[in-house]
Amino acid sequence: MQSITLHDKTFELFLEAPVIDRAIGKMAEQMNRELAGSNPLFLGILNGAFMFASDLMKQITIPGSELCFLKIASYRGTSSGGEIRELIGLDRDPAGRTVVILEDVVDTGKSMQYLLELLKQKEVETIRVASLFFKPKSLICQVPVDYYGLELENDFVVGRGLDYDGLGRNLPDLYKLSK
Ligand code: IMP
Ligand code: MG
Repeated sequence: MQSITLHDKTFELFLEAPVIDRAIGKMAEQMNRELAGSNPLFLGILNGAFMFASDLMKQITIPGSELCFLKIASYRGTSSGGEIRELIGLDRDPAGRTVVILEDVVDTGKSMQYLLELLKQKEVETIRVASLFFKPKSLICQVPVDYYGLELENDFVVGRGLDYDGLGRNLPDLYKLSK
């Protein structure tokens, strides 16, 4: 399919699945080398990172690797009125561990900054960020992206876990919003 329509918008085929698969393969190789012996705890961030986590973890060969999935819940606090964020689904104690965050995309870096702040309170020994896609030109918060698969321009994309208002997550190829 060269182009698809999701809700009211048209998207064009941008990166085919094999290109993305190769990029994930390279990430896995690098992690297998660099994180060997670290008993890593991989944290997939829902919903977007579900497919990336699945594709990557099949190629991770480090003994003692564990995977869990997390969601960041945001809500308005009742007393302060400020926004409260908390981690849901962290069923493993990350204290003293090497934690590898698995994200679909780092865009402005705001979500990653919140996540890093929340994890810092948990006495994690080492934090690594692994994002399938990275938009360096959109970055506002200077978060470290230790591993990434493919660099993107400031375009809105869907597929490989990324959605447009709920649609498109399941697409194996990546599509870019038509101009
Ligand atoms: P950030 O906080 O701006 O770095 O954005 C991160 C989150 O925004 C990602 O985890 C995605 O859920 C979403 N996002 C950023 N860029 C895109 C895109 O191109 N398509 C779909 N979702 C995106
Ligand atoms: Mg996301």
